[in-house]
Amino acid sequence: MVGLFSRMIVGMTIRMPRWFVGWVSRRYVAGPELKDAVKVMHRLSKEGACFTIDVLGEEITSMDEATFFLEEYKRVITAISDNNFDANLSIKPTAFGLLLDPEKGMENIEALVAMANQHEMFVRLDMEDHRVTDDTIQVMLDMHEKGLTNVGVVLQARLFRTLDDIKAIAEKLGPSADYRICKGIYLEPEDISHTDRQPIIDATNSCIDAMLDAGAYVGVASHDHPVIKHTIKSLESRNMGPGKSDPRSNAGPQRPQKGPGYEFQMLLGVRGPLRRKLSAQGHRTRVYIPYGEKWYEYSIRRLKENPTIGTQVAKAFLMPWTNRP
Ligand code: FDA
Repeated sequence: MVGLFSRMIVGMTIRMPRWFVGWVSRRYVAGPELKDAVKVMHRLSKEGACFTIDVLGEEITSMDEATFFLEEYKRVITAISDNNFDANLSIKPTAFGLLLDPEKGMENIEALVAMANQHEMFVRLDMEDHRVTDDTIQVMLDMHEKGLTNVGVVLQARLFRTLDDIKAIAEKLGPSADYRICKGIYLEPEDISHTDRQPIIDATNSCIDAMLDAGAYVGVASHDHPVIKHTIKSLESRNMGPGKSDPRSNAGPQRPQKGPGYEFQMLLGVRGPLRRKLSAQGHRTRVYIPYGEKWYEYSIRRLKENPTIGTQVAKAFLMPWTNRP
């Protein structure tokens, strides 16, 4: 249940002037332009992090906007390559036109994934709300069928369906499956998802185990201590961890620019000390870096979609010892 305090923060934030929202969000968003993301990558590379880049955008209303995203992401690939960053891409299939014009949307995604493939770069399909879960998984399967295996999907543990999705994807892709597992940011209806904190944590941990057992590559995207502790325990019980090659007999060969079967992923500006600690212990850590002109719309939409973010952001500012960048 979303608390009154969270709603209050959201209500206040959407009435705040744009400069104030910009001031708050600059911790979480690299800036309006690609060069801002490049700057952040230079800075955080020194902390041993690798990256995934997200070009911010709102739901598109024309295929011209889809073309914009395609071209901008091509520039991202070039920038990553020119700077020799250890980085990949995070894309939202709907931003490429998947809902507006499915055929053209698929063409756009394929063009990008193919270009990334030429640069040995991985593309992650971010997961949006439950209306597009099937379509997003299907895009990933279609790409693999076309021989573009440098693509993987995000699954959201809060959805009841996710353990079945892991099973179904494992049957089709075997060790080529490459996931990001997260709790899921969208507050989904209770007939299809967990809604309370502990069941969501338990579901996340079960999904991590199911993915590890299936031989998949697992990007654990969480800042939550019980999830990270569980992951480390699960890795240890499988003899996986820093400096060890992946011992799972059902896992594929080690992927270029990837960890030994798993990595930790965190958002820019969130729980930096925890990320740096994991990195110092030898775990591969990846920072999700959003940038783009639409930072304001993005920040407000995220707050409205999940008002608890408002509480987390307020807590980070008022009690900075709980969450440093
Ligand atoms: P939890 O929400 O309990 O957070 C633990 C602590 O981390 C909080 O107490 C707070 O201190 C801090 N924190 C977490 N999020 C914060 C924030 N936004 N601002 C400030 N502090 C914060 N979801 C989705 O539906 N589709 C997707 O594709 C992705 N992709 C994705 C990529 C990466 C790299 C990450 C880390 C997360 C996502 N998510 C996502 C979001 C994810 O589903 C989830 O909503 C958030 O990660 C928060 O969940 P935690 O597991 O971190 O726990």
